[in-house]
Amino acid sequence: MSAPGERESPKDNGGAFVDSPVASLDPGAAKAEIDRLTVEVTQANHAYHGEDAPVLSDAAYDALKRRLAELETRFPDLKRSDSPTERVGATPSETFDKVSHRVRMLSLENAFDAGEIDEFDTRIRRFLNLDAGEDLTYTAEPKIDGLSLSLRYVEGVLVQAATRGDGETGENVTANARTIRDIPKSLPGAPAVLEVRGEVYMGHDEFQDLNARQTREGLKTFANPRNAAAGSLRQLDAGITAARPLHFFAYAWGEMSEPLADTQFGALDRLAAFGFQTNPMTRECKGTVALLAAYAEVEQKRATLGYDIDGVVYKVNSLALQQRLGFRSTTPRWAIAHKFPAELAWTRLEKIEIQVGRTGALSPVARLAPVTVGGVVVSNATLHNEDYIAGRDAKGNPIRGGKDIREGDWVQVYRAGDVIPKIADVDLSKRPEDARAFDFATELARLGLRGLRPEGESVWRLAEGQIPPEVAIERLNHFVSRGAFDIEGLGPRQIEMFYADDTLPIREPADIFTLARRDARNLSRLKNRDGFGERSAGNLFQAIEDRRKISLNRVIFALGIRHVGENAANLLARHYGSWTAFHHAMISAGAGEGPAWDDLLAIDGVGAVMAASLVGTFAQAAERASIERLAEELDVEDSRRPMTEGSPVAGKTVVFTGTLEKMTRAEAKARAEALGAKVAGSVSAKTDLVVAGPGAGSKAKQAEALGIEMIDEDAWLRLIGA
Ligand code: IVH
Repeated sequence: MSAPGERESPKDNGGAFVDSPVASLDPGAAKAEIDRLTVEVTQANHAYHGEDAPVLSDAAYDALKRRLAELETRFPDLKRSDSPTERVGATPSETFDKVSHRVRMLSLENAFDAGEIDEFDTRIRRFLNLDAGEDLTYTAEPKIDGLSLSLRYVEGVLVQAATRGDGETGENVTANARTIRDIPKSLPGAPAVLEVRGEVYMGHDEFQDLNARQTREGLKTFANPRNAAAGSLRQLDAGITAARPLHFFAYAWGEMSEPLADTQFGALDRLAAFGFQTNPMTRECKGTVALLAAYAEVEQKRATLGYDIDGVVYKVNSLALQQRLGFRSTTPRWAIAHKFPAELAWTRLEKIEIQVGRTGALSPVARLAPVTVGGVVVSNATLHNEDYIAGRDAKGNPIRGGKDIREGDWVQVYRAGDVIPKIADVDLSKRPEDARAFDFATELARLGLRGLRPEGESVWRLAEGQIPPEVAIERLNHFVSRGAFDIEGLGPRQIEMFYADDTLPIREPADIFTLARRDARNLSRLKNRDGFGERSAGNLFQAIEDRRKISLNRVIFALGIRHVGENAANLLARHYGSWTAFHHAMISAGAGEGPAWDDLLAIDGVGAVMAASLVGTFAQAAERASIERLAEELDVEDSRRPMTEGSPVAGKTVVFTGTLEKMTRAEAKARAEALGAKVAGSVSAKTDLVVAGPGAGSKAKQAEALGIEMIDEDAWLRLIGA
């Protein structure tokens, strides 16, 4: 591991200059900071995407970019033409051809302790409705810390190699992959189509040698073996890749014309027989106790392996069960990564600051003296909330032995997975004598903010109706952002300008559309303003007009409701289908009980917290009025359910009732939804099909009365071809 300040370690500058509020800066100071941040973020982009050598942690990068955007919003004239704030990060590099994965490349859910592994096992058994007494068999495989690669073989010949990219689209690195010795160029006797997936990695010794060679030749060095492996694979000149010592472990597959085996373990055996390296520490384990024993074994060998691993991956062994379990949006239900414990480091906590979020949440953050943790220099840590700082959890039980956190304290920092650092412990013996307990209310008063902490909640929030300009602007910025309304020519800079304007103000989303009403007066007012000519004013109005007709999911996401991200917005749109239905449901569910509330909670992926946030927003008169003003301006398109090709139940509304014997409700619902059906909790005139098991009662009677088609579980399974 590298020491603080070493050249190759990604550093975290997040805390260095985020102290002075943007509003208090004079233009001179702002310009200097904008210039510095523009260069720094651009360099970080380049280092990350172009060279696979990140110089900043993700959190620090985000903090810098956010700060730059804030400054640009406040001082639009100072925004540079080469500003990196408009750019998106994770798109595949332009320099390789793109490959769209026929079967998505997924990531894994993480777990950190035995309790979470038990939960994983319990969840699976519940989903599959397995007997309590019977242990499930899993595989335990080391989690290799490299980069994943998908190798496509047709008639046994390697025809394509692609990186993961965003999971849907990766980079074509076929020429480079061919230079890796562990990757067979042909697989005699393989199925006609076979995509083998696994991890490209570099060993410790090889990494050291490579860095020494790079230094000798005056070339850049790599932060860690993973970056070295990624940088070596993603070379435009495959000759360079050939000269780099890369290895490959196979552990998964994508498209396949025939299955490799019945089990994960068997499939790995087949891959090994084809000539792939598979990890020799892979174990077959019956039950979670055996999994934890395998974990302990791998952890014990970790230091002497000669390559980096960051945990152990557990997978359900039976491939038939894997198939039944299926996937959530980005992770399989049948696998989990049991990560090794995070690394720790001590440092001084310099300052506790409060950040105001878009949704009004007030979050305390620790500014730290920079310190290296797990190869990355960190200078910020999350402090969660008031109780966390005070040394209590949500139930009032002590955490960190009840020690509170104060400015000036020595704190122990850790990184869990790749997330923002957290504070594990406080060294009271080093506490400065004048250190004072942190008081949220006092601090808010000092900042001139009115906050409140709702009964039973841990988070302080801005008092209702109090929307400071920063928050209003953030909300508008969210509204026009890419996954939301994505209005061309209306970015942070213009939002800031219109927000401050008294004649043509944009204070809430509806204002954007009233502004653009093709009213000659607005147009002429706008074009007399700096930055707008006849053409650009007309273009902006047109871009806004183009968005009046918009899909339901985008509208829901754009509202910026707490806990409702893009995924959730898609689910809600798919469930309700139209703005009218959604709007009506949010209001009817307001009581937190009754059919509309139950229906909302029955959506797979919507929990009580999200549901409460949704109905809570519509229950606030001012919020609701603002949303309704927006809806008046729009032509919201109905949302169509995914028409799953050839699916006999696509678009149908299905109700399950009574006892299902071959699968659990959760499984039945997930399957039906994967086939494009909508699963409802109650029978109505809109129901197309009722699947009734033994013991079906009132719902079956209702279906009969309404003349709705009713079948039993076996007929359902035949219908969906299971
Ligand atoms: S299975 C559908 N097995 O970890 C499951 N992944 O954090 C796909 N990884 O993207 C992954 N060792 O790059 C699997 N034995 C292993 C692995 C492994 C390393 C990586 C892989 C994945 C990432 C998720």
